Amino acid sequence: MRYEVDFLVVGSGIAGLSFALKVAPYGKVVVLTKGDAAEGSTRYAQGGIAAVMYDSDSFDKHIHDTLVAGDGICDREVVEMTIREAPDRIRELVQYGVNFDRDRKSDRFDLHREGGHSEFRILHHKDNTGEEIERGLLEAARHHPNIEIRERQFAIDIITQHHLGQRVTKHTPGIECYGVYALDCDTNRIDTYLARVTLLATGGMGNVYSTTTTPVISTGDGVAMVHRARGVLSDLEFMQFHPTSLYNPAEKPAFLITEAMRGAGAILKDASGNEFMQKYDERLSLAPRDIVARAIDNEMKLSGKEYLYLDARGIGKKHLIEGFPTIYAKCLSIGIDITRDMIPIRPAAHYQCGGIKVDRNGESSIRNLYAAGECSCTGLHGGNRLASNSLLEAVVYAHNAAQSAIAEVESGRGKVKTEVPDWNAEGMVLNEEMVLITQTKKELQEIMWNYVGIVRSDLRLQRAFDRLNLIFRETEELYNRSVLIEPLCELRNLIACSYLIIKMARARRQNVGLHYSLDLV
Ligand code: FAD
Ligand code: SIN
Repeated sequence: MRYEVDFLVVGSGIAGLSFALKVAPYGKVVVLTKGDAAEGSTRYAQGGIAAVMYDSDSFDKHIHDTLVAGDGICDREVVEMTIREAPDRIRELVQYGVNFDRDRKSDRFDLHREGGHSEFRILHHKDNTGEEIERGLLEAARHHPNIEIRERQFAIDIITQHHLGQRVTKHTPGIECYGVYALDCDTNRIDTYLARVTLLATGGMGNVYSTTTTPVISTGDGVAMVHRARGVLSDLEFMQFHPTSLYNPAEKPAFLITEAMRGAGAILKDASGNEFMQKYDERLSLAPRDIVARAIDNEMKLSGKEYLYLDARGIGKKHLIEGFPTIYAKCLSIGIDITRDMIPIRPAAHYQCGGIKVDRNGESSIRNLYAAGECSCTGLHGGNRLASNSLLEAVVYAHNAAQSAIAEVESGRGKVKTEVPDWNAEGMVLNEEMVLITQTKKELQEIMWNYVGIVRSDLRLQRAFDRLNLIFRETEELYNRSVLIEPLCELRNLIACSYLIIKMARARRQNVGLHYSLDLV
């Protein structure tokens, strides 16, 4: 089937839906999403969204905290723009119907604090902020007559001049995006979506690693598509590991214990129940994530333990049960009463700071292609994202991208390219051995966890690269002869993302932010 639309959005998390709602008054919008519309990292966000809402805080302080966490390599202009725009974007979320907790007496927003923040500035909805944001945005999008959300549609590749038979390299000037080819996961048919403007909002790539807080859909599809289309990517060596995921080895994804709990007073402790963060940073348990995750990793290596502890008992029973109901219930379900027991934790891959390089309008290096949210790289995070700046970045850049995309469509610049051919699936055979895909994925995730994790070295990166080469060749061979199915496309994307992480990690010859190599100390 062929479809023609004004605005094509790939992804129905905070970035994709925010963009869709903004452009909808100006044309027909189709949102493709590979699973159920609500599934994605957005719905699992716990801590909240950072913004300066009152005079007790200041833009300058939020800017300073972001620059410090980013370890000196943030784009300062982007930081300033994002943080100053934040209050307007928060007010829009509230207008769309998103509820943030408020103080009962004053009706002001109840603000939390997280690692690296010098002030209480995290707007939240209990400890399930993302679920509330996703609910509010989805409801608004579903009620909009110009927005159509199509579930279980997997974008395989963005369409460029390459699909018109031209040779496209990363040096080709003026690469253009005409839309995407997408696999209908229910029928296995590959459809052609042609659009005047396309936005990628495909989220992160946490599943490159064996332990991650991100949902299974986070397989770096947008980044891999832009890589194949020869677009510009950046900063992929900066994978953020969240210090505190619940240690419950059989569970995938790993359940997050929000940093807001440390903001409320919970303390990291070693296997013997002693505090250890004083050895690493004067901000103790509230140091930025890169520092805390490395400290935990080091303590685990020294003690040979698979987990350490977060002690939240000092917060008090009432505050724990009312303020962190999701975490309280989750831990209780596996026999841990957080009002009486310490919580076993370990770091997990959590957030990709790098991605599709975009300018301040969210425009990628490929014409008519925008990116927003976790799949993009704006320059806001530098070497390490400050907690709760990700949801913020997504709404700010969805807004900027929407303004630019609307101007493009209104001016008649973005046009539908009708001569694009349909996907050619001739000669493909059904791969009947799923084990070829599932086992390769596990191998890949272990390689990345063991050699390209929190602490790296030249030898580990070389070893990962060599192992990956074999996996890459086997998978390409399978891909080139198989009828396409979602797990195979995802595996291929995970391999591409792993390759890019390793390549960029090897090129970064300085320990900065989240990139830490023993050979560069
Ligand atoms: P997502 O919400 O991940 O959505 C991606 C969408 O793209 C999905 O709809 C998916 O189906 C679709 N998609 C992907 N590939 C394809 C494809 N090939 N074809 C079609 N559709 C596709 N950040 C904060 O700022 N504050 C927090 O408190 C916070 N807590 C977090 C807690 C957890 C457990 C996790 C995992 C992350 C947290 N983050 C937090 C990070 C933040 O949630 C994410 O960065 C953000 O939600 C990403 O939003 P997104 O719209 O870019 O992507
Ligand atoms: C958390 O709640 O600790 C996660 C916040 C984030 O990833 O920004």
